[in-house]
Amino acid sequence: MLSIGVLISGSGSNLQAIIDKVEQGVLDVEIKVVISNNPQAYGLTRAQQYGIPAVVVEHQKFSERKDFEQELINVLEQKGVQIVVLAGFMRVLTSFFVGHYPNKILNIHPALLPSFPGVAAQKQAVEYGAKLAGCTVHFVDEKMDHGPIIIQAALPVLPSDDAKTLSAKILHWEHRIYPQAISWLAQDRIEIVNRQVVIKDAPSSFVDQNSPVLISPGLEPSFV
Ligand code: GRF
Repeated sequence: MLSIGVLISGSGSNLQAIIDKVEQGVLDVEIKVVISNNPQAYGLTRAQQYGIPAVVVEHQKFSERKDFEQELINVLEQKGVQIVVLAGFMRVLTSFFVGHYPNKILNIHPALLPSFPGVAAQKQAVEYGAKLAGCTVHFVDEKMDHGPIIIQAALPVLPSDDAKTLSAKILHWEHRIYPQAISWLAQDRIEIVNRQVVIKDAPSSFVDQNSPVLISPGLEPSFV
């Protein structure tokens, strides 16, 4: 079974979505550890509730970024983590860390990359006047919010939307596409050719009639 480690900084609702799918028996991974750089992160409590080791590695305690990242690596290695899942982890990881886990780090970003990388992506989308927004699960490379894309969900930005309402709608789909992407990885169904991600037997696009969303490649029924 694939061993994953989840890095968080805050609420950890994406962590919860992953835990839920593991509990439901549709996501075949073991969450070996949850690490937060923020000791107040509610996600730590979520982990503890399920008996998952929850570790705080505070970035402020390290004068060099490399030392902070080395400590993350130490914990991940000690727990036998194979895949690192960034779920609202608010520290930029340098090539030192990324080079340690080539194509073994996943991230979720609340925008349709390559549009709106960086922080406050939902606010940027509203202010820019984008008509479609969404979320992206991608592999992490040396550049921020840049690596090969695994799955995206696109949804409309309504005239009534502000950053808050749009964030909530995007988060709903984050919670579906992230466990799906991890599941494909756990099933060894993902191949990267140049920067194109090929998913073996990928379902066709998923369209939800109730809340307009387009997900390509599609979601499997147990992840909807
Ligand atoms: C999500 O919107 C994620 O895309 C972004 O940070 C937020 C984290 O939310 N990177 P949570 O901590 O998973 O609730």
